[in-house]
Amino acid sequence: MIEWTREERYQRLESLPEDEYLKLIEQTKQSSHRQLFHIQPPTGLLNDPNGFAYFNGQYHLFYQWFPLGPVHGLKYWYHTVSDDLATFKNAGIALRPDTQFDSHGAYSGSGLVVDDTLKLIYTGNHRTDAWERIPYQMIATMHKDGTITKDETPIISGPQTGYTDHFRDPKVWFENGYYYAVIGAQRTDETGTVVVYQSIDLKHWTFISELKTDYTDFGYMWECPDYFELNNTDVLLFCPQGIDKYEDQFWNIYQSGYVLGQLDKETFEMTHGEFTELDHGFDFYAPQTTLDKDGNRVLIGWMGLPDTGYPTDKEGWAHCLTIPRELTIENNKLRQRPVKSLRTLRGNVETAEGYATKKNVKLHPYEGTHYELIVDVLDNDSTEFYIELRVSKKESTMITYNKAEKRITLDRFDSGQLPEGVDGYSRSVVLDEDLKQLQIFVDTSSIEIFINDGEKVMTTRIFTSQDAKGIRTSTESGQVYFKFTKYDLKEANE
Ligand code: FRU
Repeated sequence: MIEWTREERYQRLESLPEDEYLKLIEQTKQSSHRQLFHIQPPTGLLNDPNGFAYFNGQYHLFYQWFPLGPVHGLKYWYHTVSDDLATFKNAGIALRPDTQFDSHGAYSGSGLVVDDTLKLIYTGNHRTDAWERIPYQMIATMHKDGTITKDETPIISGPQTGYTDHFRDPKVWFENGYYYAVIGAQRTDETGTVVVYQSIDLKHWTFISELKTDYTDFGYMWECPDYFELNNTDVLLFCPQGIDKYEDQFWNIYQSGYVLGQLDKETFEMTHGEFTELDHGFDFYAPQTTLDKDGNRVLIGWMGLPDTGYPTDKEGWAHCLTIPRELTIENNKLRQRPVKSLRTLRGNVETAEGYATKKNVKLHPYEGTHYELIVDVLDNDSTEFYIELRVSKKESTMITYNKAEKRITLDRFDSGQLPEGVDGYSRSVVLDEDLKQLQIFVDTSSIEIFINDGEKVMTTRIFTSQDAKGIRTSTESGQVYFKFTKYDLKEANE
């Protein structure tokens, strides 16, 4: 992993000579891993999606950004806009770390439309001379003309008594005449939780209590909470850090998941089911949701993880966001499907069907590096079948389905250059039902797999060579009848 000194990490973009910044942009553009239809930074490092909202006839999506290199340094908010959630345009910097309260980073937060404005409520990260952290919750206003003004004073100063300085990432909503915020927190006994604040005017906030779940000792910090109601169920998303692996679960360095249930808005006690991971792949963290213009709940995540080295670090940039997913709850289960507007990116379509058997069958005659592939599993007598993507002589990313166990495994051992600091080469998940369908989005350096119409999702970055284009199928024993529908996908972002 690349190490930068503190001084380097806190260098301001504004202090960099323009031609050096232009060089960074050029260097980033040269990377062979740049994506075609995912949001990615023009230079430097992207992490959490922020401020996601539909405002003034457009979607506004911001992200955590350190402009100067592939490390977690001084964070800005970078702004992108979209008419349809399929194509995004870069709109420049939205928030700079330029006040006393956010001097060491404009950290994560959310967006809320209030009258004719978009309120951006976020954490200002301040460090004292002794390098002690003081988190401030801050508010800024984006007006219809696109200008953004910050309030001079924080809306919440420092952590609440009983909590450490890990106190950040406000997600705000409005309900029954009040504004509420959930904030990710660490108790002084070093366990993670979520706290709730209330306000009548967004300026004056009162601490209410913790949002009480059954998970009282579940990791040392919970980042990026999100709360919403969906199909008459309350959903709490959060990112606990410090959870041990358990069977197929929690293999990534930090987790991102949800509990479903009912939240009592008087006591802020939640009755709920088990914590479930949102994504069962390698690269997913810090998601955020909003309502689309038709009232559907849409989620976007960071396709990356903290404390992990990525092959593009050498090229001076890192990470991208996932494609947007529409959430629903059906039969008490959360489903995630790619938003429908992504269909507008579809170009040429090719189909193929037939049996895959033990002998390697190159069932699909087509190849590619950027596509959406729908695999219908029409008849499966195999013990285990394999679908390999981005195949070259030396490379392959393998999806395995074991019928008896209903287990899907995603293996990136042969996917080319690998991230550093990651445990294991594969991720697995057991399905509720037999595997019927995969909907797979392949971009230059990522694969997102939606399983059985959004029942489960697996996301991974891959740093495969560009001549790795093949698609291959085979079985361990027995045969499987597949139908493949493959759409080329068009470039969607700058
Ligand atoms: C999650 C996170 C947030 C924080 C932000 C800083 O990835 O650590 O808790 O606000 O990133 O960039």
